[in-house]
Amino acid sequence: MSARPASVPATYRRMRTADLERVVAIEREVHAHPWTPGNFQDSLDAGYHCWVAEHDSQIVAYGVLSVGAGEAHLLNLSVASASQRRGIGSHMTQFLLRLARDYGASLVFLEVRPSNTAARALYARSGFSEIGRRRDYYPAGEAREDAVVMEIAFK
Ligand SMILES: CC(C)(COP(=O)(O)OP(=O)(O)OC[C@H]1O[C@@H](n2cnc3c(N)ncnc32)[C@H](O)[C@@H]1OP(=O)(O)O)[C@@H](O)C(=O)NCCC(=O)NCCS
Repeated sequence: MSARPASVPATYRRMRTADLERVVAIEREVHAHPWTPGNFQDSLDAGYHCWVAEHDSQIVAYGVLSVGAGEAHLLNLSVASASQRRGIGSHMTQFLLRLARDYGASLVFLEVRPSNTAARALYARSGFSEIGRRRDYYPAGEAREDAVVMEIAFK
């Protein structure tokens, strides 16, 4: 795994229900098919690892990770548009990978849209490998889009 230091210093804390307004605003800004407030609340209620990254006391990114039975799934990672391309996504990926490891995962999986070149590049440089595709996984207008499945294994 390689990570350059974030050029915008970010501090991490657990996501709370009170954060959802800001989180959902970012989600709607950066995703064509955003998670709903209910999706985030369900993740909080399920005990998933939901974290926000703050810069100057403002949420600039967040991630959602589920961990169980020695495996983790990176369910969401998003950086506010104005804060993108400053290393925050890479830094938060490393943070979440460390968390997965600390909670006993030896493998981390994620799905990403094939068209999402930014995320695929970020995950590849964070050490993930593409291991397959799930057909018609994502909504894409009237149609569906496959998911690329990526994995990282800890040694
Ligand atoms: C994908 C995302 C999380 C990247 O966050 P970020 O903070 O901008 O990423 P970083 O600054 O850490 O960039 C790390 C690397 O990712 C790649 N990358 C990031 N944005 C990119 C872009 N727009 N185009 C191409 N590559 C990109 C580059 O390899 C980059 O390294 P470099 O800047 O040295 O070239 C961010 O673009 C985002 O939130 N996108 C919308 C939500 C999303 O798609 N999430 C992932 C799927 S759930």
